[in-house]
Amino acid sequence: MILILLGPPGAGKGTQAKMLAAELGVPHISTGDMFRDHKARGTELGKKVQAIMDSGGLVTDDITNAMVQDRLGRPDVARGCILDGYPRTAAQADFLGTLLRGQGRAVDRVLSYEVPEQAVVERIGGRRSCPKCGAVYHVTASPPRAAGVCDKDGTALVLRDDDRPENVKKRMQEYAGKTAPLKRYYQDRKLVAEIEATGAPETILAATRKLLGR
Ligand code: AP5
Repeated sequence: MILILLGPPGAGKGTQAKMLAAELGVPHISTGDMFRDHKARGTELGKKVQAIMDSGGLVTDDITNAMVQDRLGRPDVARGCILDGYPRTAAQADFLGTLLRGQGRAVDRVLSYEVPEQAVVERIGGRRSCPKCGAVYHVTASPPRAAGVCDKDGTALVLRDDDRPENVKKRMQEYAGKTAPLKRYYQDRKLVAEIEATGAPETILAATRKLLGR
């Protein structure tokens, strides 16, 4: 099963994607995580995308599509995957469609997470991430056992550079201008299912499960 998770920055896509991937037994593919991993390792790609990401802009379609093409060619994706944060532009959606067609596959469902802007602002403002393992917490909704420290490896948690208020505004603008129109793009293809994403993560997962008939 190939699922796309669509929604604004901070909607909870990553949180849901991790749970869904575990349930469905398919990989969680987050282009944001992949770019952050390149940044952390200081690769050429990481250096190229660092400034764009930190300021809240979108990485170019060419770079993003090439990275996704490589990832979707790996054997663990044979049974499907959860795409989180990709596609983000019409050009990426076209590219993905062509790529999957060439592999004899197609997107099964696009889950559109519907969250009011105020909730998104609160989720982003309270998010803290582990720079080492990528674990994500929220200061009130899902805090770590010891304040400011990752449960998994004891690393000090950080605020993502693009979560600083001055950069969140740019991310929201990019979302509204380039990514939100993808809902219509996939509605035209009868693939969109809307999910009310305001409750607790487990409640949202239960709604998703029902929607997928599981
Ligand atoms: P990316 O990492 O994809 O960022 P995003 O889409 O802005 O999404 P976020 O990671 O901010 O939020 P999320 O929806 O995953 O929410 P989360 O589960 O963490 O991309 C980062 C950057 O990389 C982009 O800006 C761009 O530069 C680049 N990039 C990535 N993909 C690209 C592409 N395709 N093309 C071009 N550039 C690309 O939850 C947020 C917080 O809320 C957490 O603290 C969480 O604990 C909490 N939370 C989650 N669910 C709930 C809930 N139900 N109730 C209360 N709190 C909750």
